[in-house]
Amino acid sequence: MSGDAISLDGKIAIITGGAGGIGGCTARLMTSRGAKVAIADIALDRAQALAGELEGALAVPLDLEDETSIEAMVDATVSHFGRLDILHNNAALLDPALAPLDCDVEHMTTDLWDRVMAVNLRGTMIACRSALPHLRASRGNIVNTVSNLALQGHMIQAAYSSSKAALIQMTRAIAASHGKMGVRCNAVAPGMTLTPALKEAFPPPLRAVMEEETLNPQLGQPEDIAEAVAFLASHAARNITGEVLVCDGGLASHVPGLPQFRAFFGEH
Ligand SMILES: NC(=O)c1ccc[n+]([C@@H]2O[C@H](COP(=O)([O-])OP(=O)(O)OC[C@H]3O[C@@H](n4cnc5c(N)ncnc54)[C@H](O)[C@@H]3O)[C@@H](O)[C@H]2O)c1
Repeated sequence: MSGDAISLDGKIAIITGGAGGIGGCTARLMTSRGAKVAIADIALDRAQALAGELEGALAVPLDLEDETSIEAMVDATVSHFGRLDILHNNAALLDPALAPLDCDVEHMTTDLWDRVMAVNLRGTMIACRSALPHLRASRGNIVNTVSNLALQGHMIQAAYSSSKAALIQMTRAIAASHGKMGVRCNAVAPGMTLTPALKEAFPPPLRAVMEEETLNPQLGQPEDIAEAVAFLASHAARNITGEVLVCDGGLASHVPGLPQFRAFFGEH
């Protein structure tokens, strides 16, 4: 692979949730690789602050629960930059106040389920639908952020994990419908990633469990996910479409009980 293949020189990218932990890192990395980014977020003040730091960046208001706002995000980006090459659907409903409500299905409220689906799945579908005519014109691509929880069962976050699993299928559907038009569509599945918000909110004993279950010596950082996204969005990934790139330090790749096996056999 030539060194130039990962360049994003001249590319125009929308990053939804671009003011957040992973999205912000991705905005910085894509800018450093030559892209101009539209930082789209419900937290417009944070989006504007980051855009002020990044050369050529644009802050765009976005509420993924509002169809008009999503279409306006794409319109504003294309009218500002003149084109669109990359749509990175990174935003998700991760409000800590709602976290206890996203539990198992027996105790799930319909309201919580609908809200998660509205932001994570319906909103992302509308973003793809609005962007696709522009991506056809530029032979661009989409990178959807999902989660290891889209691939593994858990006793909590039934709504979140179901929304992310559905996004994997939507990724394949778009890849299948738009591949011959030159549009690629892939997903990145982060495992537990140490954003500032997660460091603050995640209970330390459970973090220790996740560290033990991760094959790498340490948990992932937002920069690790940004690298995977920027790769999939680049020409280096030109022959990859309809795929899920798991970026989790090996969290989801091993047999059950590996920490116990490690304790039994000892470290090599
Ligand atoms: N951090 C992790 O451990 C982890 C693990 C797996 C997957 N992910 C995924 O990575 C992505 C980024 O997560 P993060 O950890 O950086 O979270 P984050 O909370 O730091 O960022 C999410 C961003 O989305 C924005 N957002 C929320 N609701 C919105 C809406 N209705 N409209 C527009 N923007 C909205 C928030 O304002 C925020 O800036 C998410 O899709 C998340 O599901 C994260």
